[in-house]
Amino acid sequence: MAEYFVLNTGARIPSVGLGTATGKAEPGVVGAAVYAAVKAGYRHIDCAPQYRNEKEIGLTLKKLFEDGVVKREDLFITSKLWSGNHAPEDVPEGIDTTLEDLQLEYLDLFLIHTPIRSKKGAIPTPENFLPVDIPATWGAMEKLYHSGKARAIGVSNFSCKRMEDLLAIASVPPAVNQVESHPGWQQMKLRELCKSNGVHISAYSPLGKPGSPGSMGKGFLSNPIVVSVAEKLQKTPAQVALRWGLQMGHSVLPKSVNETRMKENLSVFGWSIPEDLMAKFSEIPQVKTLRAEFVVHPQGIYKTVEDFWDGEI
Ligand code: A2P
Repeated sequence: MAEYFVLNTGARIPSVGLGTATGKAEPGVVGAAVYAAVKAGYRHIDCAPQYRNEKEIGLTLKKLFEDGVVKREDLFITSKLWSGNHAPEDVPEGIDTTLEDLQLEYLDLFLIHTPIRSKKGAIPTPENFLPVDIPATWGAMEKLYHSGKARAIGVSNFSCKRMEDLLAIASVPPAVNQVESHPGWQQMKLRELCKSNGVHISAYSPLGKPGSPGSMGKGFLSNPIVVSVAEKLQKTPAQVALRWGLQMGHSVLPKSVNETRMKENLSVFGWSIPEDLMAKFSEIPQVKTLRAEFVVHPQGIYKTVEDFWDGEI
């Protein structure tokens, strides 16, 4: 298994990237994590303005370049268009702010963060949502691609239905759909659809966000199948989960601010899960961890979680 996948643009996306949505991390923690990760060999950093740490990551990237740890072209940097910038005229500002904060000239990948549009500058709560117009937003994303500011464009949190609608109108097909994916939420239908249309899946929360309320404790990492595969292969459940993702053809974006766990999460090459053990993963109960209940409101655009995910939950 190579340490990268090839996108429909011809560019290589590293198979393992560092997620940076670290929630309430103290200032400095994410910057230090990115520095340590790149030193440890990570080459893909997954960012977003919504994580409220792009300035800190920008300072770290600058330091990594100044210290000669890596060059810009050695890294693959992803960021995302936030919901308040969906209007076509606001899309360029979305990427420009991110590029300024990250102190970069271009992104390797720019994604529509979520199929939610909110009023510009407003808190993204249901009363501030507007109906999405993905064809219009995508048209502006395509312009960014042609300008070279975004070397690949894609989407995140798109259901099969939304992917089909987008593929039907796109002149530049999306390179990536970044979604929750792990052994406890395998996304088989979406995976088949993306694969047959040349769209790469990047998996966020590939460990199922252990410890978060949605994942109920360790989540699927304590599932007996995952644990027994890990024991057989003398790996940790987290490594088995990540390796499963790679063997399914996804890049994986585990989050960690802990250097030991970061290194553990990168040690997923040079071994594999044999086919007979891969087959056992189909028995793992499927539970979506990140259901996005916060988008739902009885009078809002999404009245139920099922509405938001087009019933694919
Ligand atoms: P920490 O930052 O202390 O390492 P996900 O990427 O699925 O959303 O999961 C992120 C969470 O998983 C973080 O709380 C992170 O905590 C934890 N984590 C990261 N790597 C591992 C690992 N190898 N084993 C167990 N937990 C991990």
